[in-house]
Order: sequence, then structure tokens, then C-alpha cells
Amino acid sequence: MSKPQTIFSCQKCGAQSLKWSGRCLECGGWGTLSESAVKSDSAKKSINSSFAEVFDLDEIKDEKLVRIKTTMDELNRVFGGGIVPGSLVLLSGEPGIGKSTIVAQIAGEIARAGTVLYASGEESAPQIKERLVRINALNKNIKFLSETNVESIVGTAKKIAPKLLIVDSIQTVYTASLESEPGSVSQIRASAAYLLELAKENNIPIIIIGHITKDGSVAGPKTLEHMVDTVIYLEADESSDYRVLRATKNRFGSTNELGIFTMTGTGFREVQSPSAVFVERDEANISGSVISVVMEGTRPFLAEIQALVTKTVFGYPQRKSSGHDLNRLQVLIAVISKRTKINLSTQDVILNIIGGLKINDYSIDLAVCLAIASSLSNKPIHKNIIAIGEVGLGGEIRKATKLDVRLKEAAKLGFKTAYVPNQPAEARGLEIVKFKNLGEVLEII
Ligand code: TYD
Ligand code: MG
Repeated sequence: MSKPQTIFSCQKCGAQSLKWSGRCLECGGWGTLSESAVKSDSAKKSINSSFAEVFDLDEIKDEKLVRIKTTMDELNRVFGGGIVPGSLVLLSGEPGIGKSTIVAQIAGEIARAGTVLYASGEESAPQIKERLVRINALNKNIKFLSETNVESIVGTAKKIAPKLLIVDSIQTVYTASLESEPGSVSQIRASAAYLLELAKENNIPIIIIGHITKDGSVAGPKTLEHMVDTVIYLEADESSDYRVLRATKNRFGSTNELGIFTMTGTGFREVQSPSAVFVERDEANISGSVISVVMEGTRPFLAEIQALVTKTVFGYPQRKSSGHDLNRLQVLIAVISKRTKINLSTQDVILNIIGGLKINDYSIDLAVCLAIASSLSNKPIHKNIIAIGEVGLGGEIRKATKLDVRLKEAAKLGFKTAYVPNQPAEARGLEIVKFKNLGEVLEII
């Protein structure tokens, strides 16, 4: 049987098949298969038994990672304390969110110490210049490269040896060794492989920009996440002005670090006291509103949880949630109904995390349950109180990690009372109230 000349690969998940079909058999995406040429396997035939260099790890000198820092602490933190030379960073976000702006700011800062090579297939030199002028980051050390061929980009970078290489965006870059279109999964992966080699062999840090949408309909860059050292998302919430930079993977730092910024007319500005920005403490006490302290990465953040509980008018009770996992809300409602005297089977529950911060920390469970109970009974919880703790299926309040860090933050911001799980806890100026189960907590309302 003759070998196939072309192959069909899914643009979403990268699955390959010999025949075209309207729907990818792997990921179920419609119309995502596209044809590409099969690479000749002459490379495979020439298997020889050459030797590669073997290192003795004992003999390798301990080199401290010298990180390249910017003047923005919020930015450095997300990179794990600064950009590591030779690291490959993927910066993802929705189109128009400000990715080019933030890399231009980084370029401006790094250019004070050395050359920055900015390769863009998206914008022209005048456009890039205009942006740099606007954010006051224009510097003669920033060299612009209007190129989308990855071989040329790599060649130029090797020659110039910049302190930082920026590729905007990976969707516009292509390698001549593949026939598929720029932006296809195979092109994105192959181009990134070239850049990875460049980063590691020449010790050049590279930031690759990748467009991605919330629903994952532009999923190409997602397939790069295992290749790169660091994955950073730039997020925003429609309801707030804040931009959040979040590291979801970092080989050189802790994950889930957040950097909080606002977008101004002249680029991004750091937020001064980021821990408190998502809480509005000046407002009068209203029922259904409870404050908690969550950990994002290594840093504590205050989060205000609001619940609205109203009688179901028709049919099934509704559960809605924004900024919080809906499934988790359903679980907590089930636990409340089963383990306490509160009945939510004929109540609609709407939950909102103020400020648009998306929270993955289960230790806000207690605050969520308190907010629901507070709204149902229409009894406000004082704004001097914070609640921390995960709620188990048995209604037990489970231990929170890094409780001392959270309590310290709360004390610093002037809270007076903390509802916490039954575990060692102490913070100056804070009255600590310990609870074993949800029944005890809800009794106080
Ligand atoms: P951009 O960085 O081009 O987004 P992306 O590269 O992610 O597609 O910026 C998008 C928006 O930011 C654009 O609508 C203009 C706005 N903006 C500002 O508000 N302030 C600024 O200083 C700059 C440069 C852009
Ligand atoms: Mg852009």
C-alpha cells in the first residue's frame, strides 16, 4: 500500500487522521480539520548511532538565576521575580485586552539595559512606534523586525543576540518547512519549537504572544503550554477596570501569582494595594455580603462575596454564579440544605464575587455559605468580620492553608474578627472565633 501524501489535522486539538471528516473524532470540533503535507520520512531512515555529549551533574557549577527585572513589582512577581534568561514565556489573552501594550512596556524597561528585538507580524513599524511613544517607552535599543518567517526571526536574533525577544503573535508566524497556513496548530507548534531551541541554546528570553478566547475557539496557543517554561494569562472582567496578569505555569516561580493593573491612556499602571481592591468597605452593611481572604499564588487577597437569595417564583430554583465555580456553589447549597436547618429547595441563589476576580480557592466556602444565610435571613454580617474555611460534604469546616498569612493580611487592613476553622490561629488585633461545623456558624445569624 502506498503511503499517504497528505494528512488531516485538527486545528483545535491537533489530532490527525487520514481522511477528512466534518467533525474531529477526538475533540468533537466541527470543521476544524485541515489538510497538510506529510513530512518525508527520509529523516527517519538515516538513523545512525552517533553519540551525544553526556554531562556529569556533579561537575556543573551552581549558577544562580540572574533575573531581568522591571521597575514594576506586580510584573516581576508574575514572572517569578523577574524574567529568567533563556526562558520561553507564553503570554495569552483575548484580542484587544492589552498584550501588545504590556510587552511594549516590558520592552521599554529592558531596553534601558540592552537590545530588545520586537518581531511583529500584526503591526507595522509606525504602529509599534506610536504605541511606544504613547506609553513613553520609546528607546533606540528597541529594534523592530517586520517578519513572520520563524527561520528569519531566529537567524536575526542569533546575529543581534538581544536581551529579550518578543514575538507578536505566534499565530502570524510560520516555518517554511511546513506547508500548512500560519495559525494552524502544526505551524504554531513547529514555530514554537524553533523559538524554544533559540532560547535554550543562546540564553535569550523570549515572550511569545498568543491570542486565545474565553471559550477556547482559538485554541492554537493552548497546545504550546507544555513546551514553554511559563504561561501567563492577561485577563479582564467586563465589569471592572482591572487587568489581571496570572501565571498558570512557571518553571522558575510559583504558579497562580497575580499581578493587578489598571489600563490608562498611557499604558498599564500597577495597583498600589492590590490586596484590598476587590472589596468595597465603605458601603454600609448589607445582607448577603461577606468578606474572605483567599490565597492567589503566594499572596493573600481580600474577596467580597455577595449572595442574593430570593423565593423561586416558578419551576426549579435557579443557581447563578459569577467569579465562582457554579458546581462548587451547587455542592455548598446541597451541604447547607442537608447539614443545617436552612432550606434552599424553594429559593433562587445568585452569587457574585465583587470586582471580577476569579477565585479557585476553596477556603472561601465558609464566606459563601454565610453570605447565603445572611441574604436569606436578611441579616447583615458586619464588615469588620472575615470568614475563612473550606466546607466539607459533612458540613465540617476544614483547615485552611497558610492561615497565618491570611490573618495577618486581614489584621493589617483593619478587620476586627475572623471566623476560622478549628486550627491553631492567632493574629495581633484580631479576635479569632473558631468553628467546627457549618451548623454552629449559621446559628449565630
Ligand atoms: P493592545 O495591546 O493592542 O491589545 P492586544 O495586543 O491584546 O490585542 O491594546 C488594546 C487596547 O488598549 C486598545 O483598545 C487601546 C487600549 N490602550 C489603552 O487604553 N492605553 C494605552 O496606553 C494603549 C497603548 C492602548
Ligand atoms: Mg496586539
